[in-house]
Amino acid sequence: MTQQHQARFITFEGIDGAGKSTHIGFVADYLRQRGVTLVSSREPGGTRLGEKLRELLLHEKMHLETEALLMFASRREHIAQVIAPALERGEWVISDRFTDASFAYQGGGRGMDLRKMEQLEAWVHPHLQPDLTFLFDVPLEVARARLDATRALDKFEQEQADFFAATRNEYLRRAAQFPQRFRIIDSTQSIADIQVQLAKLLDVLLAQSTVTR
Ligand SMILES: Nc1ncnc2c1ncn2[C@@H]1O[C@H](COP(=O)(O)OP(=O)(O)OP(=O)(O)O)[C@@H](O)[C@H]1O
Ligand SMILES: [Mg+2]
Repeated sequence: MTQQHQARFITFEGIDGAGKSTHIGFVADYLRQRGVTLVSSREPGGTRLGEKLRELLLHEKMHLETEALLMFASRREHIAQVIAPALERGEWVISDRFTDASFAYQGGGRGMDLRKMEQLEAWVHPHLQPDLTFLFDVPLEVARARLDATRALDKFEQEQADFFAATRNEYLRRAAQFPQRFRIIDSTQSIADIQVQLAKLLDVLLAQSTVTR
């Protein structure tokens, strides 16, 4: 008898500077140490084409619906080339952002009609949803202070406080709408405390996904 883990799809969400990238390496290591084979990826991006689209998305000004369509174009390629094949192989996928980010940024932040966003979601991935979504939630001022301390800001990171307030609100609305998969992480905690919390949540998912053959 051997124990294996059924494939799972985990996404990391939150406004710029909330701590997604800080914790994705920890989660990957934690899962690998427990016998999980996984692919770690990001959006926009995750494929050669997707990374080219990411460059455009982060630096070119464009109509808000163009932005949403390019995000979903990158996502379509990411699903086709990376996410779906990995899950079919029985591997886990962890992604720094997915469709909740489109709702939050293009929907909440930029004000695009959420019904159009739902149509794009239903078109691009009608049967795929994350099994677990970590929402790193943090007040805007804290996220901004952390970002300013690090590097040059991209197009989104240069947005004003009201944009991030609307983005954060849409994330929280999505979390309330899909409580089964969302776990809200209070990102004002220390990195060490957050990792303790992440480990506990991952232990639950690991236990639920264990199959004995
Ligand atoms: N809990 C924390 N306490 C203190 N500093 C933190 C914490 N989490 C992240 N940071 C720091 O904040 C900065 C931004 O974090 P990170 O890059 O992980 O954010 P992000 O959510 O990936 O942002 P982006 O959307 O811009 O990629 C980094 O310098 C990181 O070290
Ligand atoms: Mg990041």
